This record gives sequence, C-alpha cells and structure tokens, in this order.
Amino acid sequence: METPHPGGRLVVVDDEPVILTVLQSVLDGEPWDIVYAQDGASAVAAMAEGVDVLLTDKNLPDINGLDLVRHAREKTPDAEAILLTGYASLETAIEAVKLDLFDYIVKPPRDIFEVAKKVRAAFERQRMRRENRRLLADLSEKNAELTTALDEVRRAQGELVQSEKLAGIGTLAAGVAHEISSPLFGVMGLAEAIVDESDLDEIHEHAREIVSYSRSIREIVVGLTGYARDAQTVHDVACDMAAAARDACRLVAHSAAARESQLEVRAEGSFWVLARAPELQQVFVNLVRNAAEASGAEGQVLVTLSRLGESVVASVEDTGPGLPAGAEHQVFDPFFTTKAPGEGTGLGLNIVYRIVTRYQGTIVAENREDGGARFVLRLPATEAP
Ligand SMILES: Nc1ncnc2c1ncn2[C@@H]1O[C@H](COP(=O)(O)OP(=O)(O)OP(=O)(O)O)[C@@H](O)[C@H]1O
Ligand SMILES: [Mg+2]
Repeated sequence: METPHPGGRLVVVDDEPVILTVLQSVLDGEPWDIVYAQDGASAVAAMAEGVDVLLTDKNLPDINGLDLVRHAREKTPDAEAILLTGYASLETAIEAVKLDLFDYIVKPPRDIFEVAKKVRAAFERQRMRRENRRLLADLSEKNAELTTALDEVRRAQGELVQSEKLAGIGTLAAGVAHEISSPLFGVMGLAEAIVDESDLDEIHEHAREIVSYSRSIREIVVGLTGYARDAQTVHDVACDMAAAARDACRLVAHSAAARESQLEVRAEGSFWVLARAPELQQVFVNLVRNAAEASGAEGQVLVTLSRLGESVVASVEDTGPGLPAGAEHQVFDPFFTTKAPGEGTGLGLNIVYRIVTRYQGTIVAENREDGGARFVLRLPATEAP
C-alpha cells in the first residue's frame, strides 16, 4: 500500500521523549508526512495506512523494533527501515542484514543531522525501487504485447503459407486444364470425323492420331503435376524442334480460332534439343494458338527454325495487331490476359516461359516492324541421336 502524502510517510518510534524531541527538531520541515510514536501500539496504528520509511528504536516496551519492521513490511512491502539501537551488537548487525534494513544508528546519535540524511537516503532508495518496479511492470506489459503480436504474425504467416499453397494448386489445376484443352479438342474432332467416315484407311489414320493426342494428354498431366515433386525423375531426350512445331500446328489447325488461318513451318532438316517432346509441343501449341487467335481469319502464322551457334532459334510470328503496348514482359506473367473473361486464362505464355527456362532457354516477345507479334525462343542445341 502506498501512502497518500506525495512526499511519503515517515513513522518515527522511540519510547524516550528526549530522543523523540531531538529527532523532531531535525526532521520537522522535511517534505514528508511524519508521525511520531512513543510505543509499538501507536506506531502500528500510524502504519495502518502504510508507511514508506520507519525509523524505530530497537527496544520498545511493548514490541521489538525488529517485529515492528516486519509489521511495516506487511503493510508496505518495500518500506525502508532504519533501526535505532543502544549498542551495536553482532546480533543486531545480522538481524539488520536479514531484514534488509536500510541502516542502523547507535544511540544517542553522535551527529543528529546524520540521521536526517539517512532518512532522506532511505526515501530515495524507496523511490528508486518503486521506479524500477514500475519500469519492470511496463517492460513485462510490453513484452506480453510483443508476444501477442508475434503470435499474431505467426498465425498470419501460417495462413499465408496455406493460401499460397492453395493458390499454387489452383494455378496448377488451371494450367493442366489449359494445356490439355488443345489435344482434347483434337481427340474430339477426330472422333467426330470417324463417325461420319467410311474409308477404313482414313479411320485408321484418325485413330492413330487419337492415340497420339491421348498420349500427349497423359504426358502433359504427368509433366505439369510431376515437376513440383521431383525434377530429377524427368528424363530428357534429343527431340526435333521442327517436328514439335509441325505437330503443334496440326493440333492448332483443328481449333476453331485457327481454322481459317494459314499456319506454316519453315525448317530445313531437324533441329535437336534435349527436352521432353510433349513439352516442346506445348510450347509451340501455345505460341501458334496465340498467334492464330491474334491474326484472326485469313491471318498468317509463320514458324521459322534456324541454328545460331550452339543454339536452336525458333521464331513464331503473325500478322495480327501486335502485342498490347508496353506488355512485352508482362505477357509471360501468370493470368495476364487481354482476352475477355471466359475466353483466356492468361496461363499459356507462363507455361511456355516455365518450360523454356527450365531447359536453360530464353524467350522474348516483340513487335515486328510491319505489324504483328514475334516470339523468339532459343534452346541449347544437342547432337542428333
Ligand atoms: N501473338 C500475339 N499477338 C498479340 N498479343 C499476344 C500474342 N500472344 C500473346 N499475346 C498477349 O499475351 C496475353 C497472354 O497470353 P497467354 O497465352 O498467356 O494467355 P491468353 O492467350 O490470354 O489466355 P489462354 O492462353 O488461356 O487462352 C494475351 O492475352 C495477349 O494479350
Ligand atoms: Mg494463350
């Protein structure tokens, strides 16, 4: 309990009136609420509302001064105490240490002003203790706040990781759906053609293509869902880029958007790169399909393959309106699309980019001088198998 007096409360106890009078003469005028008591009982009463510093005689008629100190501490746990004692025995010294007394003064005091000084120092120590305790309380409050904040951050982080994972799964699912739509469209077109076809050779040819597209679908699914798990299990072989480009054009030609367009592949011989064939086909399907979609009916799409040093260079150009202004880099971002909602996912070029860079290749998008877009990709060349 803290005393109401702003300067604090001092209780002075001595059964000898002379000593009390002397003490009073030096202590009066100090900025404390001072109570003088001649016996233990009145001291206890004075301390009912707490005490900051207790200056007490050791030998009182009704109570031991040390017990009075204990009593003061019950009221005010950080109360300071100074003991006045007739003689300084070893026992008194030991008791003083045990009770953590501020000091003790041998009676009669040689220098009475020394007493006032000690009382002042006792108040000062108590003030500092209180200040420390307040700071400590502040600190632990701040600490608790920080711990709460940290918990909150951890929880939010956990949620973020979870939602990123979900977003990753969403992108993957959308990617798979995007990539299998072309070969699936091919399969459906060929299957419908078989229904109306009577020529057995044609039917066989369509069936073979259906098998091949179905394999692509399986490879695409394995490829897209398998990377994340273990890139090492993917086995690269020498593949011909020219063949991949031609397969892709054949596949795109089935789609509605490209039915009217002219798709052409210019390649002399084979252009070998280390990769997986279905992925190379995916790259060209996306580039050629975009080009066909951009150039529209009667548009032209030209795929050119060439060898430049240690690289195979493929360019896909069209006669469309060209890339959206300033979006040469953005077009590779996942979900970037200028198509109407429901028409494009914006995943095609991102899948292309991921495949090309995984094979240590590069791809750039640019506009041709005479209009239309051009995508140029390079992949490290390899020996013919
Ligand atoms: N040949 C091109 N000519 C002009 N703009 C293009 C061309 N190819 C791509 N783009 C631009 O890049 C954007 C992203 O292409 P991307 O293939 O990633 O997605 P998308 O074609 O919009 O959607 P999806 O592939 O799902 O059909 C396109 O919306 C378009 O703005
Ligand atoms: Mg696309």
